[in-house]
Amino acid sequence: MAKQKVLLLGATGHTGSSILKALLKDKSSFEVEALVRPSSAEKPEVKKLQDDLGVKIVIVDIVSAPMEDLVKVLGGIDVFISAIDAMGQASQLRLVTAAKEAGVKRFVPCAWITVCPPGGVMKLRDSKQEVYQEIWKSHVPYTIIDVGYWHQISFPTLPSGKVDYASFWPKTEIHAGGDIPNMLTDLRDIGNFVALIIKDERTLNRFVCTYSDALSENEIFAMIEEMAGEKVARKEVSASDILAMRTTASTGIAADPTNAQAQMMFYLAEYDYSKYVRGDNTPEYAKYLGYLDARELYPEFKPIGFRDFLGELLEGKVERIY
Ligand SMILES: NC(=O)c1ccc[n+]([C@@H]2O[C@H](COP(=O)([O-])OP(=O)(O)OC[C@H]3O[C@@H](n4cnc5c(N)ncnc54)[C@H](OP(=O)(O)O)[C@@H]3O)[C@@H](O)[C@H]2O)c1
Repeated sequence: MAKQKVLLLGATGHTGSSILKALLKDKSSFEVEALVRPSSAEKPEVKKLQDDLGVKIVIVDIVSAPMEDLVKVLGGIDVFISAIDAMGQASQLRLVTAAKEAGVKRFVPCAWITVCPPGGVMKLRDSKQEVYQEIWKSHVPYTIIDVGYWHQISFPTLPSGKVDYASFWPKTEIHAGGDIPNMLTDLRDIGNFVALIIKDERTLNRFVCTYSDALSENEIFAMIEEMAGEKVARKEVSASDILAMRTTASTGIAADPTNAQAQMMFYLAEYDYSKYVRGDNTPEYAKYLGYLDARELYPEFKPIGFRDFLGELLEGKVERIY
């Protein structure tokens, strides 16, 4: 297969840097450029991409640049990948139009979340759906990749404080009984999966889900307790507690739409309801929705398992991401 020219939006972010790392490892398959907004052009992270990794930086404002500039940037690109932050979904819409005009061969919009149906379950999922619909209306070739929940935000903290170094906050909640399994992918593996998926004709115009494990909260708690030799005091959170959290967050956002804490609480409550009450983020439900399963497509690829991740966590080797 000829080398693919990839343009990556979000190369300095969590998901984007995982993708960049994997694509740069496979130099015989990919030539990668990073799309950067003008306000970030001088950031040290961007300079590092250019100077240390030799990545070509393409500077353009996707929100305000004239359409012909966006078409120019996408000209000659085989695969466009977006890993924009959660709040930025709508700003991909103009890129779809530009990709159509430029003849991009595969548009990978910003999905990268848990499997969840569109239509009112998760606002975040619905904001991504608007982009997918634009792709379908424009008849642009695409692949939509969801990854479950990251290992890095899926572990409870321990009474000893041993894993606090890698956690944003103390976390001991078990939701709605904790028995529903969830697909999990190590953030470091997202890029490895992407490198396989975008070379594969079978994934064109399809949804694909990635995961290393599908584990319930009860299984995760039991695993870390056994490995650490500590008992976690569980805080039970019911389905109605999750809905109450969503209502409180909604009220906070209505009072002040810029309230970042309320927004985060809202997103988390919706994630929790979808994952732990509805049970959306499972391999079986993904299949029902029509997803291809990356574990079945690439049986030779062994992603980092959740148990191995916990081993690294307990050895103090995990990088804190928030
Ligand atoms: N599955 C999970 O567990 C999970 C967890 C978290 C997030 N996610 C999903 O993953 C997606 C990516 O999230 P993330 O946390 O990886 O993102 P992130 O770390 O916040 O990074 C976002 C990237 O997008 C770039 N960006 C934002 N606006 C841009 C613009 N207008 N033009 C060019 N670049 C722009 C940022 O660059 P600068 O700011 O430097 O310009 C940065 O590189 C999100 O949409 C979210 O839904 C999933």
